[in-house]
Amino acid sequence: MAVRIDTRYTERFVTKEQVSAMQPRIASAHEQLHSGTGLGNDFIGWLNLPTDYDKEEFARIKQAAAKIRSDSDVLVVIGIGGSYLGARAAIEYLKSPNYNLATNGGPQIFFSGCNISSDALNELFMLCEGKRVSVNMISKSGTTTEPAIAFRAFKKYMEERYGKDGARERIYCTTDRAKGTLKALATTEGYETFVVPDNVGGRFSVLTAVGLLPIAAAGVDIDKLMEGARLAQNELCDTDIEKNPCYKYAAVRNALYEAGFSTELLVSYEPAFQMMNEWWKQLYGESEGKDTKGIFPASAIFSTDLHSLGQYIQDGARILFETVCVFDQPKQQRVIEDDPANVDGLNFLTGMTMDEVNKKAFAGTVLAHVDGGVPNIALNIDTWSESDLGYLIYFFEKACAISGYVLGVNPFNQPGVEAYKKNMFALLGKPGYESQKAELEARLAE
Ligand code: PA5
Repeated sequence: MAVRIDTRYTERFVTKEQVSAMQPRIASAHEQLHSGTGLGNDFIGWLNLPTDYDKEEFARIKQAAAKIRSDSDVLVVIGIGGSYLGARAAIEYLKSPNYNLATNGGPQIFFSGCNISSDALNELFMLCEGKRVSVNMISKSGTTTEPAIAFRAFKKYMEERYGKDGARERIYCTTDRAKGTLKALATTEGYETFVVPDNVGGRFSVLTAVGLLPIAAAGVDIDKLMEGARLAQNELCDTDIEKNPCYKYAAVRNALYEAGFSTELLVSYEPAFQMMNEWWKQLYGESEGKDTKGIFPASAIFSTDLHSLGQYIQDGARILFETVCVFDQPKQQRVIEDDPANVDGLNFLTGMTMDEVNKKAFAGTVLAHVDGGVPNIALNIDTWSESDLGYLIYFFEKACAISGYVLGVNPFNQPGVEAYKKNMFALLGKPGYESQKAELEARLAE
């Protein structure tokens, strides 16, 4: 299996018996998920997506990506939450966090509409200056405020630069198959559209057009990405937690949660994993954090954050456990050079690879954190390939769904994210929210 789990550093905190006691709950969660009888069962399209996807659309995604690569220096991807995190995570993971500085002939890819910052939007227009631009607007609902504001600005910009006909050739919309404002707008304007399937929620949508178009535009082989996810779909079905690392992960994290460890830190020793952390945080936070329950998802990149969060992790409130994503090898090795003068006293490292040092940092940190009271799960990942990333994405999605059912929540809704939007709309004077406006303003004035 492309992802393997090592839970030996949790055994001091939850016994083998406590983990085994999860087995029936995992089996029941599996049954609910696979029979489609669990909560939120109208949003489980991601479960069979690696085999059951629209092949005609998949071919169109590859064509559109090839066109973008041939006629654009910049692709602006507009979306928020599940409509951008997966694509950004995959591009940084497979290419580099510095992909835009060395695109190897592909377009630079900038993400917009994931905040309401005028500085960020204005800077992006500056970055587009003198470059050939395409836009991929992604919104399932079509009404999300952040991307809608950015798209309003980019639509105007594209029409001014290229004319209405030219803009039409360069704007791609990924949205609902039939309904919503974005779908209606795309139909009126004649933009090429791609579909967010009805039964796939935003945070589970990276292997649909939502993620695949920007990822393919970055030059990634999306066939291989799907191939890895397919492998995971086939392999991660055994209900026996000792044979299925995905279900073992769900079992151990729930056992830790019930033993009082309420915050999970997803950790990697590779900066290219940073946006995967962000994608994972949305996936788990939005899926599990409800009904006053759920593990709080946090993240860190080590050893970087050992110099900022390390003190807290070692010595702070004992609510943390870590899940460390460990790669067998880096993408490229680098050997530490000799310094005949040994001015820094580091000649004991001469000839070692940086990865050997990184792995020793990991080993030393695990022991220290476990001694400090922080359980550690390791997820061992074979390679940085497209296929292994596809596997890892599916692994996390399935473990999340199973975990949610074990926790007793609906892992596929997100009622809580509406609260801030209602207040914001009322304060902005959106029609229909008049009655709340006065009350909110009075509270703010208190
Ligand atoms: O997971 C989710 O459903 C959310 O994070 C959405 O992806 C996010 O709010 C964006 O929604 P939309 O694609 O409708 O603009």
